[in-house]
Amino acid sequence: MLIVDSKTGLQHALQRHRLSQESIAFVPTMGNLHEGHLELVRRARQLGDIVVVSIFVNPMQFGVNEDLDAYPRTLSADREKLFAEGVNYLFVPSDEDVYPDGLSAQTVVRVPDLSETLCGSNRPGHFDGVATVVSKLFNMVQPQVALFGEKDFQQLSIIRKMVEDLCMPVDIVGVPTVRADDGLALSSRNGYLSLSQRSIAPLLHKTLLDCRDAIACGFDNFLQIESHARMQLLQAGFVPDYFAIRDARTLQAVGENTEEIAILAAARLGGTRLIDNVRLTLN
Ligand code: PAJ
Repeated sequence: MLIVDSKTGLQHALQRHRLSQESIAFVPTMGNLHEGHLELVRRARQLGDIVVVSIFVNPMQFGVNEDLDAYPRTLSADREKLFAEGVNYLFVPSDEDVYPDGLSAQTVVRVPDLSETLCGSNRPGHFDGVATVVSKLFNMVQPQVALFGEKDFQQLSIIRKMVEDLCMPVDIVGVPTVRADDGLALSSRNGYLSLSQRSIAPLLHKTLLDCRDAIACGFDNFLQIESHARMQLLQAGFVPDYFAIRDARTLQAVGENTEEIAILAAARLGGTRLIDNVRLTLN
């Protein structure tokens, strides 16, 4: 595995693969890698001749009061994990490489509507930061396929829409959420949970599943299901940001044309914000 720390270095490194028509599968990350990230890497190996993983803690997607400085940086452990998975290139660009003129003089990629709801309403500007950095990384890596986790379902939806709207020549592949045995979605943020919070945390996924079961059984008072779920989370010690039953394609309210439902939740346990979602196909 070659570690490349500049965009010119990356161009040089990838040129010979492009010339020999080898396909590139790309997994963008912010590091602190766990089994969820590694599942994306394994899928990437099946889909491309060459696998490129990036680690870049993107300042543009963190709000002023968010955990940019505290975000765990574990490069040497990450490097070992990626090496063991047979990754070809680890791309670790600097802030200057990605944002040569700083953040304020920055072209912004914005995907309206999808970016403003759910996590977007609690984290203004967050998804502009994600869409902008992912566009830049796509232009640097020029992959044929890029992989994203369904755990961040809104992020995946936004990337799909951006690629479609801007005619980017890359296939976006969503990878199912990797979970602990008790159902908690793996996340870099789980490490912040105390032992007692960790024992409460799986209730987020369980509440989503109960809600999905209720809808599958024909219960269609969504407002009631949502408020019941929020109450359950509150009683267990969560502070819910949202618990929402939406159209999986638009992330807006479920309507006559909805083919698939997404049930999405974000909730805080102490200072740690957890997100999760499940989906249900309608017949
Ligand atoms: P990060 O949080 O490091 O996640 C990188 C990728 O791993 C994302 O596509 C995310 O959805 C996926 N992932 C995380 N936990 C997962 C799990 N339990 N199961 C499956 N996939 C999981 O998401 C970001 O970084 C950034 O926003 C990024 C896209 C890199 C842009 O900066």
